[in-house]
Amino acid sequence: MSIRSLYLDNAATTYPKPEVVYREVERFMREVGGSAGRSGHWRAVETGRAVFKAREALAGMFNVPDPLRIAFTGNATEGLNIAIQGLLKPGDHVVTSSVEHNSVMRPLTAARAAGVSYSVAQCDPTGRLDPADVEREITDSTVLVVLNHASNVAGTILPVADVAAIAHSHGIPLLLDAAQTAGRIPIDVVSDGIDLLAFTGHKELFGPQGTGGLYVREGLEVEPLCYGGTGSRSSELEQPRRMPDRLESGTLNAAGIAGLEAGVRFIEERGVDEIRRHELELLGRLLEGIALIDGVTPLGPGDPVQRVSIVPLLFDGHSPSEAAEILDRRYGIATRAGMHCSPSAHRTIGTLDTGVTRVSFSYLNDSGDVDYLLECLREMQKGI
Ligand code: ALA
Repeated sequence: MSIRSLYLDNAATTYPKPEVVYREVERFMREVGGSAGRSGHWRAVETGRAVFKAREALAGMFNVPDPLRIAFTGNATEGLNIAIQGLLKPGDHVVTSSVEHNSVMRPLTAARAAGVSYSVAQCDPTGRLDPADVEREITDSTVLVVLNHASNVAGTILPVADVAAIAHSHGIPLLLDAAQTAGRIPIDVVSDGIDLLAFTGHKELFGPQGTGGLYVREGLEVEPLCYGGTGSRSSELEQPRRMPDRLESGTLNAAGIAGLEAGVRFIEERGVDEIRRHELELLGRLLEGIALIDGVTPLGPGDPVQRVSIVPLLFDGHSPSEAAEILDRRYGIATRAGMHCSPSAHRTIGTLDTGVTRVSFSYLNDSGDVDYLLECLREMQKGI
């Protein structure tokens, strides 16, 4: 077997990015390089235009009616923190699922000190959530439902529209964590009933690290986490109320945002439906192949349609970190072992004590990559 270098840690961050993303970041930094909304010279104006174009591209991707309702953030974690900390008050109650990342669980747990409480709707051992279990946890004090769109451990897709309908029937908004799904599964904030959407730029949207955003539906007021200069109403000491300025203090990561726009355009040219079709093809090939290998057990749903191409593996004869090390050192395959910042998801799928070795694909992977992984797994487990 000839050894290759294969990156399968795309759930942590996608690599490589499309060529257009590298080129756009460099072009922007060399040729534009102003600060959005801060001055009247052409570089600042051009930067403001680039930031607005990115907002429009993202609004198009998620069917957001007004691009100005999207605030840029550094990542999904920041968007989730703004939404959670900016909406909740003492006495409020939140319902969430048992496969949330620490980017949700830690702000919720920290909010307990401020008199906020939360309940967890239990998912099954493959990570699937019954929307009725969310409804069961709703109380008179519930003001928010926070849901992961797809688990970064099990890969399971959660039933967003059904949970949104239940939340809305109680007058409660839904905050969706789309860290693993933005760009790989169609998201429509209107028809899915998403009131707040936190996304990251550096995963399936193929932007640079340090980019992301939070969409806030018209009519919802979120208090900022961070106050400061916005380039607007500069003679006033109070933070502007209007979006996105209310949630965007300090100089934006304009080069990153320009790169993110290039990533979003790359996806748009292919279409999210086509990206999902490609993902299902790879997933089917992977799951069928692994089923024929002794000593490797994939977790999460068996049906590709119920998941994204994030697959946790357990190995006979190797701990998750040993398996990741063998894959890296012997076969050149990058994976991620351990807890993946999601102890709740690991508890749900029964791997809190051990962790797993996680392989995760992006749209830029192909069937040859799946076949190489399968060949390495077969050889690795021979004789175990
Ligand atoms: N949450 C990211 C992961 O799952 C970083 O690896």
